[in-house]
Amino acid sequence: MAYLPAASRYTQMQYRRCGKSGLKLPAISLGLWHNFGHVDVLENSRKILHLAFDNGITHFDLANNYGPPPGSAEENFGHILKDDFKSYRDELIISTKAGYYMWEGPYGEWGSKKYLVSSLDQSLKRMGLEYVDIFYHHRPDPDTPLEETMMALDLIVRQGKALYAGISNYGAEEAAKAIKILRELGTPCLIHQPKYSMFVRWVEEGLLDVLEEEGVGCIPFSPLAQGLLTNKYLKGIPADSRAAKPTGFLKEEEVSEEKVSKIKKLNELAQQRNQTLAQMALAWILKDQRITSVLIGVSRTEQLTDCLHSLDNLAFSSEELNAIENILK
Ligand SMILES: NC(=O)c1ccc[n+]([C@@H]2O[C@H](COP(=O)([O-])OP(=O)(O)OC[C@H]3O[C@@H](n4cnc5c(N)ncnc54)[C@H](OP(=O)(O)O)[C@@H]3O)[C@@H](O)[C@H]2O)c1
Repeated sequence: MAYLPAASRYTQMQYRRCGKSGLKLPAISLGLWHNFGHVDVLENSRKILHLAFDNGITHFDLANNYGPPPGSAEENFGHILKDDFKSYRDELIISTKAGYYMWEGPYGEWGSKKYLVSSLDQSLKRMGLEYVDIFYHHRPDPDTPLEETMMALDLIVRQGKALYAGISNYGAEEAAKAIKILRELGTPCLIHQPKYSMFVRWVEEGLLDVLEEEGVGCIPFSPLAQGLLTNKYLKGIPADSRAAKPTGFLKEEEVSEEKVSKIKKLNELAQQRNQTLAQMALAWILKDQRITSVLIGVSRTEQLTDCLHSLDNLAFSSEELNAIENILK
């Protein structure tokens, strides 16, 4: 049966303006890094996308290398788009990126104009799209002049292959430089995508201030620390978890005793707030108005439903915030 999105899809989700741009993003966005590759079950990926859109998640985040194998998440997403979302393209914000290794030779990774332009052309083909909404440079390139990388983003936007430009994994200082170059070129930087969670907090030491000053949005990735900040690893490593899967990026050794002891304490605090730990971890990031959206991943629909309920309570008392700081110390 053809997919028909829920008529109620815009009733619950909160939308936040992305920096000082005209674009609003859902407070929760869905990433396709894991669980959408050829190694995964396509019908499960499809169900996740349906549930997301039914609940007002309008933003789906990809990259050239997502899979495995690399490129397969874009291919699968392209199939599902064609089957189910064709009539809804104008309700979707689709992003992709280039920066990591994709193909052999000197033009298959990093930040040259040659690589970025070729990679986006490949991504558009895989997804069956004429344009993406956001195109990111995925990671800073120590060798290519920043001007060249930013000129490539500017060119891509002017060509209409992307509507907006973004950067990811840039430190505060290099982000400030990139934002300035893009502004001078006439293509403002829309958004920055950094890693940020209760366990990874470098963005608090300068980057968030830069983004606020410059009017650039912020969409943290891995806000659940790849699943650590959920109730998943309270009693060991489940067989179907990212830490146990050979294709998962979370390593077993990251589920350390020290981490699990913190996770248990955070879980108790979440329960006192009548939230699951995943909900509290997302709310903890979204409490900061400089954050546009949290970019989550899910391996099944039940997890997405759980995460969506984080929006029911984004407020923290100062006692709760102090308790979290004490646990994280
Ligand atoms: N720019 C970059 O360099 C970069 C890097 C990484 C990611 N990203 C983006 O960020 C997105 C999200 O990253 P991520 O997948 O690492 O995010 P995450 O939300 O921190 O972790 C997702 C994992 O957490 C578990 N999970 C999620 N909700 C849960 C719940 N309610 N209860 C229990 N477990 C739950 C699932 O693990 P199981 O699979 O074990 O069930 C899920 O696969 C990616 O898809 C990608 O779009 C960008």
